[in-house]
Amino acid sequence: MRIDIVTCQPELLESPFAHSIVKRAQEKGLAEIHLHQLRQHAINKHGQIDDYVFGGGAGMVLRVEPIAACFDELLAQRAYNAVIYMTPDGETLRQPLANRLSLAGNLLILCGHYKGVDERIRKAYITHEISIGDYVLSGGELGAAVLVDTIVRLLPGVLGNEESALSDSFQDNLLAPPVYTRPAEWRGQEVPAILLSGNTPKIEEWRHEQALERTRQRRPDLLEEKL
Ligand code: ADE
Repeated sequence: MRIDIVTCQPELLESPFAHSIVKRAQEKGLAEIHLHQLRQHAINKHGQIDDYVFGGGAGMVLRVEPIAACFDELLAQRAYNAVIYMTPDGETLRQPLANRLSLAGNLLILCGHYKGVDERIRKAYITHEISIGDYVLSGGELGAAVLVDTIVRLLPGVLGNEESALSDSFQDNLLAPPVYTRPAEWRGQEVPAILLSGNTPKIEEWRHEQALERTRQRRPDLLEEKL
């Protein structure tokens, strides 16, 4: 999968992709991530990419020309299966959307800034508008980092054990059950005996019950959706 991200603050995205699972995915050749500085397509030598809001009001809006120039260059080189705009008024990111996008192929992601982006860009290019939650970030970069992480870890071969993404919270609309490792006893707290029994079917049954119970307690809305 190739992911291109257009941003005026690429530095914000360097670290999240240079570590851990996303780094490994790139090293294995399973994901290719390219950052593009929007200012390289600025409208003047001052590096201008934004302007005042028509109609008045506070804040700046990203202008159409730099984004169109950057997008047109990328779109001339390859097809993208989704052109995504990170914005608080987009569809809230949840696991099923990440699952779908992990199968999509090439992704082009635009990070908004300031008051957002000229509406005409959304109309002309964007196929998916995504929010990472009901709060406002200073820009789309942290949202893009979250989105890319959720997608890349799902790509086949990225996780050491192919099973582990399937047992994540939210797959199947259930939260994950509790997990333990050694020591079997710590400050009077013991690991549930069933987990030490070696009885795999019973352990799986216990985990499912625990996942259900945890979901009932913390996120009953997920169980309602499941019906
Ligand atoms: N940009 C600003 N706030 C955002 C959010 N909640 N999700 C995605 N992009 C954003």
